[in-house]
Amino acid sequence: MYSQKVLDHFRNPRNVGRMDNPDGVGKVGNPVCGDVMVMYLKIKNDIIEDAMFETFGCGAAIATSSIATELIKGKPIHEAQNITNKAVVEALDGLPPAKMHCSVLAEEAVKSAIEDYEKKRNEGEGKPAESA
Ligand code: FES
Repeated sequence: MYSQKVLDHFRNPRNVGRMDNPDGVGKVGNPVCGDVMVMYLKIKNDIIEDAMFETFGCGAAIATSSIATELIKGKPIHEAQNITNKAVVEALDGLPPAKMHCSVLAEEAVKSAIEDYEKKRNEGEGKPAESA
């Protein structure tokens, strides 16, 4: 059985949709069930100002990505980077054992979006300064 929180986030997902001009994007999938999750982040001064997601998958994957966006919004990236699927599950008041892997997808999506942001930032720093 799903908790009320899981049902709530599944029925009324928060921060759902594609973000315009995100600073980091993470796309992850589970090859076993075929579900896919995309996480978009807006980051300023190392703080996650906004997070949005698109999930093509099961109800638990939608609920875990929805709560994950709420957990990381307003957090410094070094904290968001340490998000665990356990924290996601706890925030949802639990998940059935067969659905634990859905929360792993949420953890991986957040981490992958932060990695993408850091990669882009490092590439930006490596570029020569533009001449006027
Ligand atoms: Fe695959 Fe939920 S069944 S993410």
